[in-house]
Amino acid sequence: MADQTALKKLAGYRAAEFVEDGMVVGIGSGSTIAFVVEALGKRVAEEGLKIKGVPTSDKTRRAAAKLGIPMHNVDDVDHIDITIDGADQIDENFAAIKGGGAALLWEKIVAVNSRRNIWVVDDTKIAPHLTHYLPVEVIPYGAEQLFKRLKQKGYEPTWRLDQNGNPVRTDSANFLFDLHFDKMPDPFKLGRELTSMVGVVEHGLFLNIVDQVIVGRDDETIAVFD
Ligand code: A5P
Repeated sequence: MADQTALKKLAGYRAAEFVEDGMVVGIGSGSTIAFVVEALGKRVAEEGLKIKGVPTSDKTRRAAAKLGIPMHNVDDVDHIDITIDGADQIDENFAAIKGGGAALLWEKIVAVNSRRNIWVVDDTKIAPHLTHYLPVEVIPYGAEQLFKRLKQKGYEPTWRLDQNGNPVRTDSANFLFDLHFDKMPDPFKLGRELTSMVGVVEHGLFLNIVDQVIVGRDDETIAVFD
């Protein structure tokens, strides 16, 4: 049985093959994408691949730049050809939950501005229905009040805390709540409701966004879904 890290690497390296010379590439965040960054860095060094990278987090920006991938702000490029990102869970309709790594806001901004989106996951992240906790990025001002309103709705929010017990700050200096559901409501309805709540910046439901999913499977093969 292949371990999860090996499957992430397998899928990550496969995804990096979709990148072509001259492309502007949105580069996602997380442990799976670390392998995409590694693979792209190798292609830049060994093949002379010329790309412009657009990061979805400061961590990705630093990691990619260190490997010689030229990085640009999303507002400094004309368009993004392709974005490769990870996900926390993907359901049978290709709806996903993202943000376990706290990067959901920049990830969504880069995704909606990309001509094509590829997600890379190992097969433990594919499920018939979404059951993962749902990250929500919120403005610090009034966050306690918003937390209470989410609780009243029965969405069982928890604060995302760092190892010292302090609220995690995103790259945009916001806080994160994680919502827990016994049974996930309709994702489209829930997404609209969350977006309409004052103080919510963005939620981790990624709906109607992905074009292609690359899955590293337990038998050490790759599955590609369009
Ligand atoms: C970052 O905020 C997330 O959306 C990641 O893409 C997601 O959490 C997947 O991360 P891993 O590849 O580390 O599981």
